[in-house]
Amino acid sequence: MLILAIESSCDDTAAAVLEPEHRVRSSIISSQNEIHARYGGIVPELASRRHIEMIRPVVDEALARAGVTLDKIGLIAATQGPGLVGSLLVGFTFAKALALVRGLPCVGVDHMAGHLLSCLLEERQPKFPYTALIVSGGNTSLFSVDSPLSFTRLGRTRDDAAGEAFDKVAKLLDLGYPGGPVISRLARKGDPCAIRFPRARLGEHSLDFSFSGLKTSVASYVETQRRADQSLAVNDICASFQEAVVEVLVDKTLEAARKTGHGRIVIGGGVAANPRLRDMLADRCDDQGLELFMPSLDYCTDNAAMIGVAGYYRFLAGQMIAADSDAYSRSPLN
Ligand code: KG4
Repeated sequence: MLILAIESSCDDTAAAVLEPEHRVRSSIISSQNEIHARYGGIVPELASRRHIEMIRPVVDEALARAGVTLDKIGLIAATQGPGLVGSLLVGFTFAKALALVRGLPCVGVDHMAGHLLSCLLEERQPKFPYTALIVSGGNTSLFSVDSPLSFTRLGRTRDDAAGEAFDKVAKLLDLGYPGGPVISRLARKGDPCAIRFPRARLGEHSLDFSFSGLKTSVASYVETQRRADQSLAVNDICASFQEAVVEVLVDKTLEAARKTGHGRIVIGGGVAANPRLRDMLADRCDDQGLELFMPSLDYCTDNAAMIGVAGYYRFLAGQMIAADSDAYSRSPLN
């Protein structure tokens, strides 16, 4: 049996074909970055309309690259939430319709569950339980993952997600959208100690995050420099901002692992592609004798393969959806 997985929660239309043991036969992602770049962020209506155009070709390409037809598919999995409802409804309704017509079982998957299990797509897989940091444009949360179906939230952001902070700082510096990749590239040429931006700890043992103060601090620094007609040291700003985000993410993830007592840490989400985060976490886990599992870059950002993994476990647990199941905008996990 093969799994066809579909993801359309935000601005990427994605489809994948997987074997039940998580071997990915194909994973196709159609990005909308060029559509939203000129607005400095995602425009929900444009995202839904583009999903409508792309969903059929993306699914066809996933099947073709896997070298199969729909006859070989035994399960359809689709993201049910959270995300932009107009975007979710395109992929989710497409999946339900396909399942209905083909007489196939269909499961709805929480996007967060996909990120929490994305490490299972790699050859080296973590055993359960583990502590996970999910850090993207929409979420920054810590979880205890006790099984492929059991997730307990340990902490989350009280305001902006870390990826959102990267995107907003990039907009402030006229660096385009999405901000994370360009900021991390420029940060390589900058000094992370050049400007001491604030780190919000929210109490000694808190596992919650806050990035809005940091974003405001970067904005007022940039404003002051511009008013004084000073040229902006963009590379230093990027490196110093990135260091402030990464330091807090790493400290709190290690604190979470200390509290759970797990010897394994997993990361996921778009910001998990950040090289400084990956390096600092690897060093600190090494120092503390913790095992670290990071998805490859393709499986950090939104993708359908992770939805296929999470969907397979729901299928095994008999958690199929009905034809009238609806999409949801907020995750019950978060
Ligand atoms: O998981 P994702 O594809 O979509 C959701 O937000 O659900 O994550 C996208 C986010 C964006 O905010 C983007 O700026 C950020 O991930 N991102 C990065 C990097 N690559 C992507 N942030 C920091 N460093 C990166 N290298």
